[in-house]
Amino acid sequence: MAALTWGRLVKRKMAADSASASASASAPVLFSLLARSRRCHATVGTSKEDEDTHAHSTSPSILGPDLPDIWSSLPTSPPRPIPIPIPIPIPMPPAPPTIIDGKSIAQEIRSHISKHVINLKNSYDKVPGLAVILVGHRRDSQSYVRYKIKACNEVGITSFLAQLPHSCSEDEVIDSVTRFNEDPSVHGILVQLPLPQHMDEERILGAVSLHKDVDGFHPLNVGNLALRGRQPLFIPCAAKACLQLLLRHQIDLVGKHAVVIGRSKVVGLPTSLLLQRHYSTVSIVHAFTHRPEEITREADIVISAAGVANLVRGSWLKRGVVVIDVGTNPIEDPDSEHGYRLTGDVHFDEAVKVASAITPVPGGVGPVTIAMLLSNTLDAAKEACRSSV
Ligand code: GUN
Repeated sequence: MAALTWGRLVKRKMAADSASASASASAPVLFSLLARSRRCHATVGTSKEDEDTHAHSTSPSILGPDLPDIWSSLPTSPPRPIPIPIPIPIPMPPAPPTIIDGKSIAQEIRSHISKHVINLKNSYDKVPGLAVILVGHRRDSQSYVRYKIKACNEVGITSFLAQLPHSCSEDEVIDSVTRFNEDPSVHGILVQLPLPQHMDEERILGAVSLHKDVDGFHPLNVGNLALRGRQPLFIPCAAKACLQLLLRHQIDLVGKHAVVIGRSKVVGLPTSLLLQRHYSTVSIVHAFTHRPEEITREADIVISAAGVANLVRGSWLKRGVVVIDVGTNPIEDPDSEHGYRLTGDVHFDEAVKVASAITPVPGGVGPVTIAMLLSNTLDAAKEACRSSV
């Protein structure tokens, strides 16, 4: 893997896919932006309960405050420099990086969700329900679906599973979607991706009711995420998980250069939109980007969702960078129980020597992504309660 060039990786990834698929502001402007951002956050939550609930919904804390663009004006003549004695730096050993613990963050979020599920049942006799549609027999999709259903059971969300053979027709999948759209005990619908290649993914995802689109893939939800001043009903779970991890670790996003590797609708695109809503300067690196390592090396924050094991080497990273690794790539490992183990897009052992904070794989973004799915399902059930009273 180490000797592979980017071009070869792209070709290899494309081959694998087809086989399997079957504002840099000045300092004063930044300070005033931050102050306004904090005032804006302060007016939203009125109680601890609100804060807890909104910590994982489509609240301003995840979507970011909507502030006007004020460009800094450059001074006509530069200020005269005041001579300052330069202290002799004492070399300090680099601080050990923070390993961002997704498991414990997910656990915290899940216990909040459990409490809200109980309240909903006690107050409105309503139990949130999530329907999952799985088409085909991909082993990775099957295990993701198993994790999702297990997580539902643990927080008291009812799960429904429709399993369809790889050979079924697009219309049969849409029939399943329609049945779940019409079922009042189902509040969220998830069509596990990827779908077999003979299916029109956009047609199927477009058939999911907007109010049950807990994946946030409906074009109206994506559009509202992209447009300032608008609020999507749901945000894609992995993108929300990345922001949760950054915000909970108080990583400053305003004016920071964030490089998002990958442009998928599941992770790359929604994460880049969310980071822009938090005033980061976002570059998107994808399989056709020239010299991706040079762009990535300029980043303060790297979020990788390329699906290529160990793509991002230590040499791709600036010292002190924050790394969020969304990749979950199976690699052969005869010593592990199933003959393979999961590894990220980022070469962890190299990156950990350079980064100030990094997520591990497994145990980083993955568990928080599942917690976000539960959170979106809870929000959908709450909204169904509000609209029925
Ligand atoms: N396949 C991989 N990640 C996801 C996801 O977040 N949602 C769906 N529906 N399919 C996926």
